[in-house]
Amino acid sequence: MSINILAIESSCDETSAAVIVDGRVLSNSILSQDIHEIYGGVVPELASRAHQRHIIAVVEKAIREAGTRKERIDAIAFTQGPGLMGSLLVGVSFAKGWAMAAGIPLISVNHMQAHILAHFIDEPLPSFPFLCLTVSGGHTQIVKVSDYLDMEIIGETRDDAAGEAFDKIGKLLGFPYPGGHLLDKYAGKGDAGRFVFPKTEIPGLDYSFSGIKTAVLYFLRDQLELDAQFIEKNIHDLCASVQQTLIVMLFDKLVQAADQAGISEVAIAGGVAANSLLRQRLFEMENSGWKVYVPEIEYCTDNAAMIGMAGYFKFMSGEFADLSVTPDARLQL
Ligand code: KG4
Ligand code: ZN
Repeated sequence: MSINILAIESSCDETSAAVIVDGRVLSNSILSQDIHEIYGGVVPELASRAHQRHIIAVVEKAIREAGTRKERIDAIAFTQGPGLMGSLLVGVSFAKGWAMAAGIPLISVNHMQAHILAHFIDEPLPSFPFLCLTVSGGHTQIVKVSDYLDMEIIGETRDDAAGEAFDKIGKLLGFPYPGGHLLDKYAGKGDAGRFVFPKTEIPGLDYSFSGIKTAVLYFLRDQLELDAQFIEKNIHDLCASVQQTLIVMLFDKLVQAADQAGISEVAIAGGVAANSLLRQRLFEMENSGWKVYVPEIEYCTDNAAMIGMAGYFKFMSGEFADLSVTPDARLQL
């Protein structure tokens, strides 16, 4: 008998549903909320309302694209946290309602664990233990992954997440929110050695990204006083220099972590894993003996397919939630 899981993701500003059958992704429907763009960041109240408005259509699309029927769903997996409370509540309530009405089991999923388990959607599959650098708009973590559901954080940010740094600096440079991918795109034609921004050094495997954002803010303020067109004239070099600084910071600690742990299987996950320089640096490490893993971009940014994969592994190990489960905005790995 095959196991059909419907998965729901609603932790931030993507409403997503997926159907996973025996650990294989049959559909992954994602609606990215563009309402936040004009505000320069995710507005939690608007995010939860948009999830509420779209969740039924997104789920129906996922079921249709999987070529299945509602009656064939055996279990429902949902993101319990971390994330925005109001957004999580929409997905959790939807999942509970479905599980109760259909009389099927409920599986709660940790969003950060799911980002890592996205590596098991497509070949090549990492082997245990491996390290995963999970870098998103909300998190920056180096995780030692010993098994599907056995993970330990060995380094993390003490302030801003890497994606947040990309987005906040992107905003200073005039990009709409979230500006990470645009900064990456403009950096492609720029000279990364043109401007030098200070890297915040913290002992151990932790990160700090708030200093570079402030350094860029003051640098731009000073330059704009001399030339009001400074950003427009130098946008490519500015992006390349900022990107280089952020990615070198991310990468140095990852190399340090791999050396310390004696692990050479290394993966990246989360929205910032879409960054072209981060990918390039990672693949270059293959020459130094690393085996590296990068999910398809569709599975790097927030999506329900990864929630379904985590749901599948929890189903197989018999880990179910009961109907009194509630969202946890600060759920730890
Ligand atoms: O994982 P994700 O979709 O959502 C969260 O859980 O936060 O990550 C979104 C983050 C945003 O900060 C976005 O700017 C960043 O990923 N991002 C990028 C790139 N594509 C997305 N950052 C740098 N370079 C990119 N190409
Ligand atoms: Zn995420």
